[in-house]
Amino acid sequence: MMLKGKALKVGRNDLCPCGSGKKYKRCCMNAAAPKPVNLEKLYLQKYEIRLKHPQDVEGIRAAGRLVVETLDLLEKHIAIGVTTNELNTIAHEFAVKNNATPAPLNYRGFPKSICTSVNDVICHGIPEDRQLKNGDIINVDVTHILNGYYADASKMVFVGTPGPEAKKIVSVAAECLKAGMRMLAPGNTVGDIGWAIQRYAESQGCSVVREFVGHGVGFDFHEPPHVPHYGKKGDGIILVPGMVFTVEPMINLGKANLYVADDNWTAITSDGKLSAQYEQTFLITEDGFESLTPFDF
Ligand code: MF3
Ligand code: CO
Ligand code: CO
Repeated sequence: MMLKGKALKVGRNDLCPCGSGKKYKRCCMNAAAPKPVNLEKLYLQKYEIRLKHPQDVEGIRAAGRLVVETLDLLEKHIAIGVTTNELNTIAHEFAVKNNATPAPLNYRGFPKSICTSVNDVICHGIPEDRQLKNGDIINVDVTHILNGYYADASKMVFVGTPGPEAKKIVSVAAECLKAGMRMLAPGNTVGDIGWAIQRYAESQGCSVVREFVGHGVGFDFHEPPHVPHYGKKGDGIILVPGMVFTVEPMINLGKANLYVADDNWTAITSDGKLSAQYEQTFLITEDGFESLTPFDF
């Protein structure tokens, strides 16, 4: 994991920030006029992060619009008695009708087109034939590929009338994503995002899942960097314009511990308490950020 990169200080044996691929001491360290920093080359060499050009951003934004439309459509259909398999079919058919491919289907053996995570399921729930019941909370997670570009987002929906614990964990997860979003600006670090999320979650007596993290996205489903939802202020990679990644905090009402079911996907809280998650795909801009999968929550 790339958590403790010190991008601020350039050591003599580090890669030169000009992006030449040479060591700093063999390049700009003693140069009278250092060449300008080539962030695109530097981020690729140092972190394997592919910064996105305006044309790429357009493609991811278009994929993102379709993802958000799919989430809206799913939300309309979520009700007592509906099965998660029915939701899967609705999302799959909507994607295909709009010339997109659902990224989860056959991804590392995942058998369905979306993830549906109910109650104590943290993430990667597999759509099935069990009916949703009154008081359930469900996360629907949609990733589509459109014209080769990926966008990834998820949201929580109440089934029928939520109880107090359901209301609480969904509200805390939403506020956690918002706290993360407030850190999204060039010059801040990946650690700042996790720090803000962890601070809010723990202030509410909730816990942050460690095993799953946000991720670069756009050219592929999961790209560098990792974006943990916990951490220290100032740690990790510095955010720069052109970075596209998800923030997707998974927040538990009880303890953070989890286990993965026999299907090798479904992640479930060890204490059986509720878990909730919101996710969007973000672009770092010159002066802040833009959501490429924008929805109100
Ligand atoms: N959409 C999930 C994420 O946010 C990944 C799901 S992987 C799958 O990263 F195979 F389960 F679809
Ligand atoms: Co994601
Ligand atoms: Co997702």
